Amino acid sequence: MSMRTNYCGALRAEHIGQSVSVCGWVARRREHGEHLAFIDLRDHTGLVQCVVDGGHDLRSEQVLRITGTVRRRPEGTANANLDTGAVEIGDCQVEVLSPAEPPPFPVEDETNADETIRLRHRYVDLRRPRMQRNLRIRAKVNSALRAAMERQGFVEVETPMLWTPTPEGAREFAVPARLQPGSFYVLPQSPQIAKQLLMVGGLDRYFQIARCLRDEDLRADRQFEFMQLDIEASFVEQDDVLAFVSEAVLDAAEAVTGSRPEPIGRMTWAEAMDRFGSDKPDLRFGMELVELTANFAGTEFNAFKAPYVGALRVEGQGDAPRSRLDSLTQRAKELGAKGLVWMRAGAGEGGVTLESPVAKFLNPGELAGIVSLTGAEAGDLVLVVADERRPAQTVLGGLRNDLGRPPVSQGPYCYVWIVDFPLFEGLDEDGRPVSAHHPFTMPHPDDIDRLESDPLSVRSQSYDLVLNGWELGSGSIRIHRSDIQAKLFEVLGIPAEEAEARFGFLLGAFRYGAPPHGGFAVGLDRLVAVLAGEDNIREVIAFPKTQSGLDPMTGAPKPVADKVLQDLSIRVQLPAPKEK
Ligand code: AMO
Ligand code: AMP
Repeated sequence: MSMRTNYCGALRAEHIGQSVSVCGWVARRREHGEHLAFIDLRDHTGLVQCVVDGGHDLRSEQVLRITGTVRRRPEGTANANLDTGAVEIGDCQVEVLSPAEPPPFPVEDETNADETIRLRHRYVDLRRPRMQRNLRIRAKVNSALRAAMERQGFVEVETPMLWTPTPEGAREFAVPARLQPGSFYVLPQSPQIAKQLLMVGGLDRYFQIARCLRDEDLRADRQFEFMQLDIEASFVEQDDVLAFVSEAVLDAAEAVTGSRPEPIGRMTWAEAMDRFGSDKPDLRFGMELVELTANFAGTEFNAFKAPYVGALRVEGQGDAPRSRLDSLTQRAKELGAKGLVWMRAGAGEGGVTLESPVAKFLNPGELAGIVSLTGAEAGDLVLVVADERRPAQTVLGGLRNDLGRPPVSQGPYCYVWIVDFPLFEGLDEDGRPVSAHHPFTMPHPDDIDRLESDPLSVRSQSYDLVLNGWELGSGSIRIHRSDIQAKLFEVLGIPAEEAEARFGFLLGAFRYGAPPHGGFAVGLDRLVAVLAGEDNIREVIAFPKTQSGLDPMTGAPKPVADKVLQDLSIRVQLPAPKEK
């Protein structure tokens, strides 16, 4: 005989007359005279009202088992806001299974409890319906992704956590090797190298719901440890990989929301930058960038003598006060701008006029050009940035997000593939190209012959999946030929010996017959957060770290016993305290 017959939240009029046992936590208690009390009992499915006699000393969050009879609530007392609001449990026998101290914060959906307190008592926080819902959405996503990958012929393989550096480029977590004093394992930033080795090993189609570790600054969309749906496949091209991932992600979205999103469209990286100033454009709103370069081809205004001049038309914000415009200028500078020109569009006799501190430096043709190209109307604000093309667009893209981006939780879901990324994201101080993805990414076949002569113009066969302005994942077709890989290391300025020392085992494997292959990794925490309508991945992780990387519940990280350090041959040398 099990402890309960029904879940609290599942009781309905159809159960009237049945004798039931329910188990859960005391959500609320209301006295009704001396002899009667109403208890709302909560489990993960919801609440049910139980009418108990006043003799029990019941407290919030105590764990109870209540046995009684389901009955219709008296005339006029039904609660339409509650799924179980038509009924209550009467003739209750109450069994206290566990006492409880008063909770550190109320167990309710809306809480203004400080996040540190919530995380310190995460086990209480998890009782909140919202957290219950989020973790259950997460489980649904996991299971939909797994099913989709299996259906597409992928086999799940687990790869090691005690590993060696991987090429994602974040700082790494190292684990001391007790048996090899002075040596360390490295926790994988991703299963990247392992999955490529699986391809050489003939696994053909691999996937894993993989834990990844990166010691980087934490933000709303970043944790030290996070999960990826990681995939790799042999004898495939970019289109195949995009199709595999689309299928899985759309399945997951459908499992959570009940409706399948439209097929995912594609946009080249260059188009995304030109139109939205971002490689992760949020397509839920317009406010596209407007190129004004040609309009200022012969300008006398020094600030606009630049390879690129671009603008944003911000509708209806022409009345922004000076303080607001100053803070936008400040923000543009944080985003890397040399300056920001603002213009207020007004109604003049001959049409739309522009008011701006720099208007006197621009000739009438240039001003008219701005109006016609941006489509500005009286009452709008126009923001202009001039610089090299991509940096200026990045600034405009940042401002566009600040000014127009709806909250993550606000639909619709706009998935988009960004393809044809540049192979290199720029040059380092020594003038060497820097990989945009990782050094195993295959250059675009049409561009390979420009690897040395014009590296920054070389496109790669890499692609990102973007959802409402979040980078959900990325992947690429890999280099499987050692001659191209050697060429790439050379262009990147990685000496052959260093490449051998870092990735020798992978390059070695490629000498034994590597199939053409490619893959992808979806950031699972991010996907779940967006589907759950949360703008922070901590809300969809059972036990996350705070923004400063701490776990207020366990107290981790903390010092270990001297004996532990001794066994690991480690001596701790703390940094000198900072001078005040
Ligand atoms: P990448 O480094 O782009 O690619 O990571 C893929 C996706 O993982 C998620 N992600 C994170 N999520 C939470 N916290 C973090 N700190 C974090 N870092 C990354 C993002 C990101 O898009 N091996 C390659 C994939 C491949 O080429 O197959 C890789 O890891 O959603
Ligand atoms: P300056 O010529 O530096 O005094 O700048 C004149 C105005 O142009 C100021 O409002 C600057 O913020 C703006 N400005 C300067 N450089 C740029 C630029 N590259 N793009 C947009 N505005 C700029």
